[in-house]
Amino acid sequence: MDSFVIEGGKRLEGSIRVHGSKNAALPLMAAALLSDQPVTLRDVPDLADIRNMLKLLAELGCERQNEPGPNGSVGGTVVLRSEDESRIHARYDIVRTMRASICALGPMLARRGRARVSMPGGCAIGDRPVDLHLRGLRALGAQITLEGGDIVASAPAGGRLRGDTIFLGGPFGSTVLGTANVMSAATLAEGTTIIESAACEPEVVDLANFLNRMGAKITGAGSPRITIRGVDRLGGADHAVIPDRIEAGTFMCAAAITNGSLTIENCPVDALLAVVDRLEHAGVHLETMDGSDPFHATCRVTADRVLKPIEITTQPHPGFPTDLQAQFMALLCLADGNSIITERIFPERFLHVAELGRMGAHLFRAGPTVVVSGVKRLTGAPVMASDLRASAGLVLAGLAAEGTTVVNRVYHLDRGYERLEERLAPLGARIKRVPESA
Ligand code: EPZ
Repeated sequence: MDSFVIEGGKRLEGSIRVHGSKNAALPLMAAALLSDQPVTLRDVPDLADIRNMLKLLAELGCERQNEPGPNGSVGGTVVLRSEDESRIHARYDIVRTMRASICALGPMLARRGRARVSMPGGCAIGDRPVDLHLRGLRALGAQITLEGGDIVASAPAGGRLRGDTIFLGGPFGSTVLGTANVMSAATLAEGTTIIESAACEPEVVDLANFLNRMGAKITGAGSPRITIRGVDRLGGADHAVIPDRIEAGTFMCAAAITNGSLTIENCPVDALLAVVDRLEHAGVHLETMDGSDPFHATCRVTADRVLKPIEITTQPHPGFPTDLQAQFMALLCLADGNSIITERIFPERFLHVAELGRMGAHLFRAGPTVVVSGVKRLTGAPVMASDLRASAGLVLAGLAAEGTTVVNRVYHLDRGYERLEERLAPLGARIKRVPESA
């Protein structure tokens, strides 16, 4: 398992380009199961999760049609075609490595009439139930049982799902991949489906745009009510994955925590209004130099020498995203005063708290809330990555800390950030990857 060794204290300066969104690409790839025609996805990020999704789809008879990129890259342009529709089992040993495999359930069920997908199980940030996914698919007429840890689903006799009006809200608000699953399945259902309390995330909008290019009839994506008029079949499509708003937000924090000045290219500022609002209140300044396309903007991020404390509560989009909670906690460790962070989506998503404490942060947790009492400096230390975004928070802390930080188990980070050390080093970061064997 590789580690990152970071010598902190260097300001980051220069330009960095945001890559395609992991959380958009995964359901987009799964949507290839809805058609027997080839689909082309562009700007796919080169990540471990993408590699796992390609492996899962291949097992489900949906093979990549074009050659991978240089040096074994799985990103860039990916052409997929679902040719063997007899294979319907998403096995445990793949699903357990990537929960997002669950988004193959809806498309497979809708097109093939049956699906067997291992229950994803929990992960480091908490239980990851799928009850809302199953509620939505059952409302479309699917028979669903649990057998040996697998979700076994079949369409009504005759093989076609039927549209219905579905309330998809849960105790923590909407469900992103649950919305993706039900919306995808409804594209081929008989009749019209209305999803009430749908997730409004930009990644759901990107999926709806892609499905409509395939011939679906979806309106309302991005709002809590999505309407899908079922069609008999879907064709191929060519689609560019939206930029990764979480990666963009992470880079904004990197500029701020090092008191640097970063130009961020291909930045989806329009998907980050809640994040920019919090940054501005903390004394971080974002100047949009080219906002002609608000989803592919160029912006420059600088920060006041001393950051102000703020309050953050994570919420479903358009609220503050839970996937930037750890990164902002690292940033606010150095603010002048007490910040308050409340996690409303994954209340246990605080594995980074103890690790930041090892670096001298003053953090006080009470249930879903953490008080971040600002300190003058962080000190480098060996720390342990536990999940994707916690890892990103620890890297940010290491960039600002005095001395050396070793972030262990960066395979967590590689799931969502493409060769992060190679992209930060040209900006001045003293960061290198150390293979485990070293
Ligand atoms: C997506 O996960 C993202 N992953 C997550 O990003 C992100 O944190 C999450 O949405 C919330 O924004 C991908 O898109 C691949 P949810 P998802 O269903 O869809 C509860 C990252 O770091 N819930 O929106 O699985 C659930 O427990 C990852 O990139 C139910 O109760 O999340 C949570 O509290 C981490 N029942 C809340 O809803 C269900 O059936 C939101 O979960 C489903 C979810």
